[in-house]
Amino acid sequence: MALVTTTEMFKKAYTGGYAIGAFNVNNMEIVQAIVEAADELKSPVILQASAGARKYAKNAYLKHLVEAAVETSSIPIALHLDHGADFATCKDCVDGGFTSVMIDYSSHSFEENIEESRRVAEYAHEHGVVVEAELGTLGGVEDEVSVEMDKAMYTDPDQVEEFVKKTGVDSLAIAIGTSHGAYKFKPGQNPKLRLDILAEVARRLPGFPIVLHGSSSVPQEYVKIINANGGALKDAIGIPEDQLREAAKGAVCKINIDSDLRLGMTAGIRQHFVEHPDHFDPRQYIGDGRKYVKDIVAHKIVEVLGSNGQA
Ligand code: G3H
Ligand code: 13P
Ligand code: ZN
Repeated sequence: MALVTTTEMFKKAYTGGYAIGAFNVNNMEIVQAIVEAADELKSPVILQASAGARKYAKNAYLKHLVEAAVETSSIPIALHLDHGADFATCKDCVDGGFTSVMIDYSSHSFEENIEESRRVAEYAHEHGVVVEAELGTLGGVEDEVSVEMDKAMYTDPDQVEEFVKKTGVDSLAIAIGTSHGAYKFKPGQNPKLRLDILAEVARRLPGFPIVLHGSSSVPQEYVKIINANGGALKDAIGIPEDQLREAAKGAVCKINIDSDLRLGMTAGIRQHFVEHPDHFDPRQYIGDGRKYVKDIVAHKIVEVLGSNGQA
């Protein structure tokens, strides 16, 4: 199957009451793990690359890895730019074969966000590429920019209709209490997504695909494996999966997950060395990391997204 945009995926997800997983890719094993899990479960999938990923792996490698994934699977796959910083970055990805881009001008003023998102949508649409923008600010860390939780701002439902109308974007990321990174909440805290804000946004934008960033759940079994074997992760909990499932049944059509994959890869590699301290062939230990990533992606598809069987 060819690389596709998210247009058809989101239409079906909206009416079908499920969401598509958008998983961050940084190397070959991560691409393979995600696509093998999605292919076996017959789930459409979005592979997304951040600025950090593009710098680490180089665009051409990422592009060709994703092309290999398309060639060796039979599911719809979209290649998406995660958190595009400006028009120039988005243009580079549109020109470079991405099928979807995110313009993230959410830390600028409402007016500046509208203007930059509109420019990106205009250019991308001329080239058959779809656009995600963001309104509201998430907490956490992304690309070394840290936003404290108490400074994170929920999306104002009063702004969404004007924003979508003036920009022409195809989907909208909103802030309802998710945050980036592996340290979202302290143990004992009781994270609650503002599903009331989501419902109000959905009421104002009927049928329009909503995106949730920062949706890792920080699996405690991985944290335990890592910390029992030489790791020093801080105690933290993530977004409760049942609340994400609830959001996926409504207007949320795309859920972004990166940190849980990183934890899976790290747990798999650390566990490998506990069992085989004599190993030094990267295929053996990275191969185990890949297995853990595949397991966590399969779990998300079935338990959080509900996208299995929808390819
Ligand atoms: O939202 C951010 C993603 O987790 C990507 O992280 O910028 O470190 O690649 P990165
Ligand atoms: P997590 O850090 O919660 O995995 O979020 C990833 C993300 O939003 C990528 O854009
Ligand atoms: Zn994000």
